[in-house]
Amino acid sequence: MSKGKTRQQKKKFFKRKENRGKVFVKKEAAPKPTAPPLRERGRYDLVHDYEGEVQSCSHGPCLLFKDKKENKRYFSCAIFRDTEKCSFKAYLKDDGSVERTNTDEVAEVEKKYPYGVIPKQLKKIPKGSKIVFCPKCMEVFADKHKHPGSFVTRPQLRNPSRLLEAMDDQHGMAQFWFSDESLSVVSSAISNGKYDGVLCMGSPRLFESLKEEKKEGRQLFMLDWDQRYLSFFLSKFCARYSLLTDFFPDPKAEQRLNAFLAGVSRLIVISDPPFGVFVEPLMKSIQAMRKRHVTARGSSPAVSHSIVFLPFFVGKHALRNYEGELCMSDYRVLYANHKEFSRPHKTTVRMLTDMKKECIDLSDVNGYKFCDMCEKHVVETNKHCGMCGDCTSRDGQPTRHCDLCMRCYKDSYKHCKQCTRCHLAGRCPIESEKARAKDAELMAEWEEKQRLEKIRRKEERMEQRARERKEKEEERERIRKEMEEERAKEVSSGQH
Ligand SMILES: C[S@@+](CC[C@H](N)C(=O)[O-])C[C@H]1O[C@@H](n2cnc3c(N)ncnc32)[C@H](O)[C@@H]1O
Ligand SMILES: [Zn+2]
Ligand SMILES: [Zn+2]
Ligand SMILES: [Zn+2]
Ligand SMILES: [Zn+2]
Ligand SMILES: [Zn+2]
Ligand SMILES: [Zn+2]
Repeated sequence: MSKGKTRQQKKKFFKRKENRGKVFVKKEAAPKPTAPPLRERGRYDLVHDYEGEVQSCSHGPCLLFKDKKENKRYFSCAIFRDTEKCSFKAYLKDDGSVERTNTDEVAEVEKKYPYGVIPKQLKKIPKGSKIVFCPKCMEVFADKHKHPGSFVTRPQLRNPSRLLEAMDDQHGMAQFWFSDESLSVVSSAISNGKYDGVLCMGSPRLFESLKEEKKEGRQLFMLDWDQRYLSFFLSKFCARYSLLTDFFPDPKAEQRLNAFLAGVSRLIVISDPPFGVFVEPLMKSIQAMRKRHVTARGSSPAVSHSIVFLPFFVGKHALRNYEGELCMSDYRVLYANHKEFSRPHKTTVRMLTDMKKECIDLSDVNGYKFCDMCEKHVVETNKHCGMCGDCTSRDGQPTRHCDLCMRCYKDSYKHCKQCTRCHLAGRCPIESEKARAKDAELMAEWEEKQRLEKIRRKEERMEQRARERKEKEEERERIRKEMEEERAKEVSSGQH
């Protein structure tokens, strides 16, 4: 009998005749692993070097992924990662052929571009009239309208990110709006850099806020997948765009963008992609924008820089690949509608930029100081390391220089002799490997014991059954003999 039965159940079990003499077996528990769990490294990689035909879903060209575990490549949506939002999947075989797992018809990208419907309509509504905004029709009406809407003012209609509901899809299209402080830091950086053109890629609130500043000589253009914004701005200011595939659903939009770029000599491309974005294709799209700028300018001067908003731990990798080009500012980017990232100590988002360091001026922002050595503003608690030549903390936590590794690490990291580098306690790759091997050995031993125990119990059960069969046969034989004797007695007594 195994463990896990109640006392009553056990009592009842051993009371039965056939169970007499049996013993209660306490099952040996499996050994508990001591090695830290393996942190799963990304199972899916983006394929960058594919030059064949790219498959498209109803959201435009797809991205090509590689499933490292199954060693398969497949095309999947570049806008939505949630299969409920887009279930398109097409496997790319080694011979170059493509196999769709979902054979539903692929709908075309929606071809509705309601550019500037609202400002055009506003012109027709007399000044002083009440304005109703209907989010269902994405239109404005004078006085009243058949759907439930709300009364709005003209300035509200120039700031749609403060009027519309932010998309909250966690798999690609979540919208988080810059706080007023962050808007002002970016705006002053643009002014300090003397840019005469700003291209906002995936940053509608920044676009509308810059537009409200009405700076003379500065032109603006916005690109975003959310087509609700098209209704609020004329086609010379905005277009629908897929950030990771550099795709314009409206073919005329690219021409309009080129016309904007042609009129700009100093361009700044600003992108605040959704959290968890794939950095490589994003950088490729930014590069494509800068090339378009050069082409559109022809022989006229074309200077361009970029600002990309990324979590500092992602930014580190981006920096590695674009060394010398991008620097990470210490400014902690804040989002008005994000629970955690609305606080400076919690947000992980930073600005990566190749604009001149002095453009990001944080002298009026609380919590920063100027480092004379780095010649830039850094978080108040960041300490300059003479060996690294940098204020090395990325998240505001104190750092310590390790002479053996020749770089700074978080204070909580210690230098480890086993793997000769600094890491957190319990995170040594060599120690973990040893512990994992030991765990595997213990597990194998335990499994072997379990196997032998199972065989032993089976044999015991078979012996028990044989004994019972023999006992029953003997009993039957005894009864048979008794009956025979009985009958013999009867026969002999009948003869008398
Ligand atoms: C995190 S929000 C950034 C908004 C920015 N902080 C602001 O206040 O202006 C990301 C933006 O990128 C857009 N977006 C998300 N995925 C996109 C894609 N694949 N292509 C183009 N735009 C995308 C969203 O609609 C959203 O406006
Ligand atoms: Zn799709
Ligand atoms: Zn309506
Ligand atoms: Zn410094
Ligand atoms: Zn250092
Ligand atoms: Zn070290
Ligand atoms: Zn170690």
